Formats: sequence, structure tokens, C-alpha cells
Amino acid sequence: MRRSEKGNPLDLRAWLDEVRKFGELKDVIGADWKLELGAISELNVKKDLNPALLFDEIAGYPKGFRVLTCSTSSPGRLSSILRLGLEKNHHELVQKLRGKPASWQAQAPNYDPVVLERGPIFENVRSGEAVNLEVFPSPLWHEQDGGRYIGTGCCVVTRDFDSDWVNVGTYRVQLHDKRSVGLDMIPGKHGAIQYDKYMKAGKPFPVAIVLGCDPLGYLISGIEVPFGMCEYNYIGAILGESVSVVKGELTGLPFPAGAEIVIEGWAHPGDVRTEGPFGEFHGYYPGKEGTAPAVTIEKIYYRNDPIMVGSPPAKPPNDYSYSKAVMRSALLFDALLAAGVPDVTAVWAHEIGGARMFNVVAIKQRYAGHAKQAGHILNQCGVGAYMSRYSVVVDEDIDPSNLQEVMWAVATRTDPAIDIDIIQRGMGSKNDPMFVAYPYQAPFSSKAIVDACRPYDHLHEFPAVAEASRELQEQVRKKWKDIL
Ligand SMILES: Cc1cc2nc3c(=O)[nH]c(=O)nc-3n(C[C@H](O)[C@H](O)[C@H](O)COP(=O)(O)O)c2cc1C
Repeated sequence: MRRSEKGNPLDLRAWLDEVRKFGELKDVIGADWKLELGAISELNVKKDLNPALLFDEIAGYPKGFRVLTCSTSSPGRLSSILRLGLEKNHHELVQKLRGKPASWQAQAPNYDPVVLERGPIFENVRSGEAVNLEVFPSPLWHEQDGGRYIGTGCCVVTRDFDSDWVNVGTYRVQLHDKRSVGLDMIPGKHGAIQYDKYMKAGKPFPVAIVLGCDPLGYLISGIEVPFGMCEYNYIGAILGESVSVVKGELTGLPFPAGAEIVIEGWAHPGDVRTEGPFGEFHGYYPGKEGTAPAVTIEKIYYRNDPIMVGSPPAKPPNDYSYSKAVMRSALLFDALLAAGVPDVTAVWAHEIGGARMFNVVAIKQRYAGHAKQAGHILNQCGVGAYMSRYSVVVDEDIDPSNLQEVMWAVATRTDPAIDIDIIQRGMGSKNDPMFVAYPYQAPFSSKAIVDACRPYDHLHEFPAVAEASRELQEQVRKKWKDIL
């Protein structure tokens, strides 16, 4: 496949121009990095229609040193990030996304990044003693956080010890001081696997952290791209052109030529420091502070008027829970079909469960047992099994993304004694807030599959729903739009 020599530099500003044009970007002037910026972002993301927020003139910082939040939290912004056109309806977005992750993965090997000599990221370069991470307005996001977090919507670039595989993962980055940060990679994550190899060999681990670029960067760094595959290739497959990168002067690690801020350094053997606590995707602090590798930063690069991308975890809905809900709903839809479940009409992995713990599928029931089949597969398929606490099946007249409707179906169409199946010792996580109370030593969890469909053997006699028909609702909405 022929691609342009220049490639795509993952320029955040081009994307912001587009978002401003379709009316989903709001400027916020004068907020304090200390708790205020985080609280404004958190309240904003809980609104039904929320814009992305671009903070400037942050208290104590010069004009131009900006922070962007809520970048992925609407169907319009998420569809434009994923280059799926402008889609304002989330079910349509899930439909557009179906099948795409598999094809992006298949195409990724065709999109090796293009290496450039120069790029806007080199507008400002500081080395050694001139490195000062405190020039950037890292937020203190929440009252109980263990410190300021410079990296949340970030991409951590690392290289394997014994191969040339470059990994790009989103891992939180705590600001320790002017020249060092803490990097929290959960064991088993690709960055952590690479780190372990360097530590075993007693060698410093090279790290480059991208603190802002086109949000496609952190969106894909934050999902499970296969072991051994570079996220830049996967991003290239989404864009239909290679990502253009430049190489760090210290480590040679590649980062997007149009990135906003990049910090580069080494995690030295034995340099592990106190880290956290920080919230998790499910909305809790899973524990007290822990420890994490520290990275000594020896070089920083930033564009003029740099923009840091923030995306802190918190009680959902949070900054990135919408994007996870959409992405996982599409993957679950595909998995149900691949497992042979017919007549699936919609799937929604709810934000309240961090797109893992409360998932709903709507089906048009075709045969006895169809609903239980759909529920168990939703709960146990590869993409769904981890931390899947509740899996609910509803009829096709229920919108699975609407909790009011889903819980109405649970309340009115179930006989708990027969419609709730419990799976014991299923796949859980030490990260589960309930883990403290579970009787297990290992991270098991029990799971409930709730069949909230009308009983298949009584469909013909099940009471009719007492509300205006869809057609009548539409007619009346049209005619009485000033009131409705
Ligand atoms: C905003 C955000 C913050 C995240 N923070 C962390 C983190 O601190 N540590 C971690 O191990 N995973 C974190 N994750 C999840 C990882 O990014 C995700 O599992 C990803 O697949 C890791 O990349 P890898 O598969 O290349 O290891 C975060 C994800 C997002 C979207």
C-alpha cells in the first residue's frame, strides 16, 4: 500500500479546530490546577450534552500552557476521533464501529510509522538541569489523590529489551518533582512486561511519555492491542495513513511529530517510589498509596503554547467511560454474533459499571432458551468475562443503554427465583472494590445473569405495555415540538 511520505503527525490542534467547528469545544479561563480544574471537568462530563473543555490561564501559569479534558465523552467527538464521520447517536456509532477493531488489527502491519527528522514537537527542547516538569499545569484532580498527575490522557512509549517492538500504553503518571515522575503499570501490561526484562538485566528502562496529541493516540494506547504489535501501526490502520514520528534525542524512542509535550528519561533499577493513591475506572480508590517505578526525566520537548490532555479516572460517568462503553459495546456485539447468538438488536456496556460490570443485550426472542444463551455468552465471552458482574438480557422494545428502561424490565419481567442465574468463581480482579469482602484468596467473583425478557413460553399472554405506540409518539412529538 502506498502512503504519503509525511504521514499523520497526530496533531491535536487540527482535531480541536474540527471540534470547535461542530460546536463541542468550550474555553475555560482562569481555573485553578488545584482541584478546581478536575471538579469542573468531572461535573461537565456528567451532563447529558457536554463539550470538551480547553483550560487556559490556569492559576499560577502563563497564558498558553493549556489542559484539555472531556475529549472523548460524546458520540460526535468520539466518532470524529475514530474517523467514522460525525455521528451524534451512540447506537449508530456502535453499529459503525462493529467489525472495525478486527479489520484495523488485520491492517496494522501495513502501517509502519514514518520517521521524520523534524516536527513541531521540537519547538522547545530542554535538557539536563534545565528540565523542569513544574512548568506544566499538572492538575491535582481529586481531594484524596496522592499528588498531582501529569499523565492521564497520555501515551507511554517504551521498547522491548530483546526485540525492536515499541509499545505505547496509557498508564498514569504522577508528578514527583521537577525532574521525576512515577509510572504505574499494572503487572501483565505490555509496558510492565518490557520494564521487568530491563530490571532483570540490571539496565535502565528508556521511557518517552507523550502528554498530549490527537486523542486517537491515547484512545488506542488505552485499549488492549495485541502483544508484540505497536499501537502506532494500529492507529495508522484507523487513519488509513502511517503515523509520522520523530525520535527522542535521548532514547531514540519514537513519538508523534505533532505531539504537544513529550518527556523522556530512564527508570533506573531499584528506583521505585511511593505512588498514589489515585482513583480507578470503577470509581473507587482501591487502596492506599503503593509503589511504582520512578522515571528520571532528562529531556523535555514541547510546542509553543502546549496543550496537555487530561483524562482522569473517577466515579463514572468519568472522562473516558463513554469511549470505553462504545468500544466495548461494539466488541461484545461482534462476540455475540461470532458465538452464534441470532437477532441481537443492541448491546450496551454501561458507564456505571466502567463498561465491564453492568452490560445489557437486547434480543428479539426466537426460541426457548435464547435469552439465557445471550446472557451467558455476554457474560463469559473473551471480551466480556473480566469483572463482568451483571449481564442483563432484555427484549427488543427496551433500549439497553437506557437504565430507566432496563431496570423497568428487570422489575416487571423477571421472576428472580428462575430468571437470575449465578455463576460462582468467575473471572474477577484484585482491583474490584468488593475484593476486600470476598471469601476467595484469588481474584474470583460471582456473576449474575438476569433474563429480563418476557417469558418466552407466555409471550402470547404477557400483558401489553401501557404507553403510546412509537408511531403515535412520533406524530405527537412532531406536531407538539414546542411543548415536547
Ligand atoms: C485514562 C486511562 C488511564 C489508565 N491508567 C492505567 C494505569 O495507570 N495503569 C495501567 O496499567 N493501566 C491503565 N490504563 C489501562 C491501560 O491503558 C490499558 O490496559 C492498555 O491496554 C495498556 O496498554 P498495553 O496493552 O500496551 O499494556 C488506563 C487506561 C486509560 C484509558
